[in-house]
Parts: sequence; structure tokens; C-alpha cells
Amino acid sequence: MSTVTMSKASAGQPVVVAKDLKRVYEIRRGFLRAPDHLQAVGGVSFSVDAGKTLAVVGESGCGKSTLARMVSLIETPTGGQLHIKGVDAVNAPQEERQGLRKAVQLVFQNPYGSLNPRKKVSAILEAPLEINTTLTAAERAEKARAMLAMVGLRPEHYDRYPHMFSGGQRQRIAIARALMLNPTLVVADEPVSALDVSIQAQVLNLLADLQQSMGLAYLFISHDLGVVRHIAHDVLVMYLGHAVEQGEKSTIFAQPLHPYTQALLASTPGLAGSSAVKHRIVLKGELPSPLNPPSGCVFSTRCPHVTERCRAERPLLREVGDRQVACHYAENFLTA
Ligand SMILES: Nc1ncnc2c1ncn2[C@@H]1O[C@H](COP(=O)(O)OP(=O)(O)OP(=O)(O)O)[C@@H](O)[C@H]1O
Ligand code: SF4
Ligand SMILES: [Mg+2]
Repeated sequence: MSTVTMSKASAGQPVVVAKDLKRVYEIRRGFLRAPDHLQAVGGVSFSVDAGKTLAVVGESGCGKSTLARMVSLIETPTGGQLHIKGVDAVNAPQEERQGLRKAVQLVFQNPYGSLNPRKKVSAILEAPLEINTTLTAAERAEKARAMLAMVGLRPEHYDRYPHMFSGGQRQRIAIARALMLNPTLVVADEPVSALDVSIQAQVLNLLADLQQSMGLAYLFISHDLGVVRHIAHDVLVMYLGHAVEQGEKSTIFAQPLHPYTQALLASTPGLAGSSAVKHRIVLKGELPSPLNPPSGCVFSTRCPHVTERCRAERPLLREVGDRQVACHYAENFLTA
């Protein structure tokens, strides 16, 4: 994975490039008090190519959904740069941003909440075409039926309501809706977390198949490294709004260098026994409040290897052993 400075659109360029992307929220606690500042995402950089999946992992509250909302243009970054299909997605004229909105589609965690219960599948799938294209009703229906088949649902499902489906089927409908406008990038925020484990694999397989056939890029948000292992090409591990380790999945899973990544892997069923998990770090203590993050290394309050230097000096994200990692002592884990 590379962090690239963007130029104009050209073939083979990444679909999305984020550079030092930031989001700060103002928290007001009363009329007379100055607002507090919560840094939900504190400068994250990445790129995703067509046909590839970048998985963003980390505990609850580390900024994953905030990142997802920025990349899907729902929320404006407070700092950094975001280019989608070579276009400056933050500063482009309104019309161009509208075009980008169609190119980036979201799939949410909760297939129960994200589908309108009063609308039939037909209306749910055809709505994006009705709003954004000049297709006739017959053409819209044809496209919707074709998409239904692509996500593994049957023709008779077309006239049914969301409540008549299982959780996995509803997520298939949500995926179908996201694909109706032929997007370039799909941002999926915990898309299988609400599903039974047995159903998760089916939906992950579907996402992988659709990626292949449509050349889609995925930004795949998950707290579960077991899920990420199945779908990711690259991985970005976040802690308190910061990227602590990022690179190719195979590299990171084979030899995690950041103590936080090591802890995540060690606590993931099915991965905990892997030979890569040499440093059995058990995460102790609470995640610090993002309103009052630790000085120095963000992980310093929970890291078993912490030193005075870690508390004083924030480690920069830097290249170590074929990936980027933000730990002063990453080399020690490389040789261990
Ligand atoms: N609109 C908002 N206003 C203020 N603070 C917010 C807002 N949205 C998110 N936050 C805060 O930003 C931080 C990151 O939240 P975010 O939802 O991005 O985390 P997450 O990694 O998606 O967590 P989860 O795994 O629980 O979904 C949290 O501390 C959260 O409370
Ligand atoms: S910099 Fe220090 S506290 Fe941070 S992860 Fe590395 S060893 Fe732990
Ligand atoms: Mg979230």
C-alpha cells in the first residue's frame, strides 16, 4: 500500500487516496464554557486500488465510522486531503461532488435499520436509478432484477418487503442497492457484524465475488480481525484516531509489529494460536477518552513495553519490515 500525492485522473491510479485525513468534533458542555475538542480521526493516510480491499480495524470508538463517513462524503474532513477517482473530493465544485457521491456507496452494519420497511425490494433497488438516471420504468425494473440475481436472491423476492427476509438476505438487498449506480468504491461499515457467524462467511464470499466481477474497491470497516482475514488485501489498524500499523494483510498477519496489533491478533479466536502471535499481549485497562488522549504514544497507557520515551514522544508512522508502524521499538519485534 502506498501513500501517494495526487495528480489528475489517469488509468491505473488508486480509486481513493487519503492524506493526513482529520476530523475534530467540537463538544459543547454548556453555554458559557469553551467547547472541548475531540479528535476522532487524527491524520490518517491510505490509498485503495480498483479491485482491492483496505480493511480498517480497531476497537469501538477508535474513529472507524468517522473515517467511513468522510470517505463517503457524508462528513467533511477538518484537515488533510481526500481524492476520489483523481478528483479533490473536499474542494471540488458542488456538481463534481454530486458525481463522486454516486461513485461511492455505503453499506451499513444494520440491515434492519437501513432498509425502509414500507418499501418493497423493487422500490428500494429502483430508487437510486429513479433519482439519478433517465431510465424508463421498464429499464429500471430490468436492472433491479438483474442485480437481485447478482446478489443471490430469487426473482420472486422482487415484490417482497424487507421484514420478509432473514438478516443475511437483507444485507444482500442493502448490497444490491449500493451497487445499482455502478459505484467505483464501496464503503462497508461493519457489514457482517450483526449477522450470525454462519451467515457472515456467505456475505463475505458474495462481497468478494462482486468485487471480482465489477472491479470494485472496498473500504471495509471491522472490529474483527477474523473477518478481515477473509476479505482484506491491505489492513490499517487504528487506535484512538491514529493509524498504528498499516500494510499488506499477509505481512501484518504473519508478523504484527505494533503491540496493539499483536494484542488484537492474540485476542481473535482462530488466530490466537497462530505462530505469528509470539507476543501474547492481553489488553488491560480502559481505552482512554479521545477527549483526553495520552501524551506521547497513544497506546502508552495500555502497552506492556512502555518506557519513559513512549510517554513523552509520540512515535511517527514509519516504514519497518515492509509495512508502516508507529512504535519506537518496532524493530525489536521484527527480530524477536
Ligand atoms: N458527531 C459526533 N460528535 C461528537 N463526537 C463524535 C461524533 N461522532 C463520533 N464521535 C466520537 O468520535 C470518536 C470516534 O467515533 P467513531 O464512531 O468513528 O468510532 P468507531 O471506531 O466507528 O466505533 P464503533 O466500533 O463503536 O462503531 C468517538 O469517541 C465518538 O464518541
Ligand atoms: S511506542 Fe512505546 S508505548 Fe507505544 S506501542 Fe511502542 S512500546 Fe508501546
Ligand atoms: Mg463505527
